Amino acid sequence: MPARGRTSRTKLTLGWIGAGRMGFEMAARLAKGGADLLVWNRTRAKAEPLRKHGAKIAEALSELAARDIVFCMVATGDDVREVIGKLLAGSGAKPRMVIECSSISLEGSAELRTFLGRRKVAYLAAPVSGNAKVIKAGKLTFVCSGPRKAYDAARPYLDMIGKGSAWVGEGELARIVKICHNVFLGVVTQSLAEVTVLAQKAGVPRHAFLEFMNQSVMGSTFTRYKTPAFVNLDFKVTFTPELLRKDMDLGLDAGRRFEMPLPLAGAARDLIQSLIGRGWKDQDFAALILQQAQASGIALKPENVEAGDGLS
Ligand SMILES: NC(=O)c1ccc[n+]([C@@H]2O[C@H](COP(=O)([O-])OP(=O)(O)OC[C@H]3O[C@@H](n4cnc5c(N)ncnc54)[C@H](OP(=O)(O)O)[C@@H]3O)[C@@H](O)[C@H]2O)c1
Repeated sequence: MPARGRTSRTKLTLGWIGAGRMGFEMAARLAKGGADLLVWNRTRAKAEPLRKHGAKIAEALSELAARDIVFCMVATGDDVREVIGKLLAGSGAKPRMVIECSSISLEGSAELRTFLGRRKVAYLAAPVSGNAKVIKAGKLTFVCSGPRKAYDAARPYLDMIGKGSAWVGEGELARIVKICHNVFLGVVTQSLAEVTVLAQKAGVPRHAFLEFMNQSVMGSTFTRYKTPAFVNLDFKVTFTPELLRKDMDLGLDAGRRFEMPLPLAGAARDLIQSLIGRGWKDQDFAALILQQAQASGIALKPENVEAGDGLS
């Protein structure tokens, strides 16, 4: 993608749609890195603090159409369709490329590719792994698909936001990778909740159990950064149960499409649904451990033990 008369690819003008938990921190990294960034969020007040990092805030979504590259980070496939539709509703300017980072379905992504293709706008599917704290720590990763040329043009910006990206091929392949990733996230979180409560019921404090697990071959970046929540029961939202259920449903839909059973994913999906049904939808999805404890007949208390998250 040639830069419009500019000398450096990192001097392209950028638009950013969505300043939620993820979008805000991703945009902040671009702004802090010196990118020429214009941000739009449906609830404008949430985007305002980005000004202090050098970003401009748009009054209207249509202002972003004149940017070279527009990033999108909203919640669901329907939201993506709505904002990209509005972005390109006018007959005037249009971006050269859209980089779409939300977690959406293969079908929604393919529909978007057709929509943008008709308007001669390049499209990179670029969903991410990591929460807002991971972004702040500079450890977000992207999985990308679409034309290799689009990925190469996007890469300097992806590198400003996170620690790395992988291009997995053409079309919507990145979407299935992200869906598989989050199905694994749901299953692993439920499993970690089960074994942590089992160990506790047998007499092992959660912090001691998780300290061992984190050092073991089963420990991971994820088990480490969920440890403070499991130990001290701080369920301030990083990722909502409803967004995780969306991803489990995307996984189960993909399982139907590709004709395969996903028995663990199905069970984890229903447990996440139960969490929502019990009214825990405004807490972090790590609250799965509370539900597990309840089902196991024990009440959890914060252990008030310093537990590192492996990020800071
Ligand atoms: N949180 C995580 O750990 C995480 C990790 C990886 C991927 N993801 C994925 O990243 C995406 C964003 O997640 P998040 O946690 O940042 O969610 P979030 O905090 O709920 O933010 C959602 C964003 O989308 C906007 N939005 C929603 N519907 C819209 C609509 N119809 N029109 C315009 N804007 C709309 C919201 O605007 P308002 O501010 O006006 O509501 C907000 O900016 C999701 O697809 C999620 O699955 C999340």
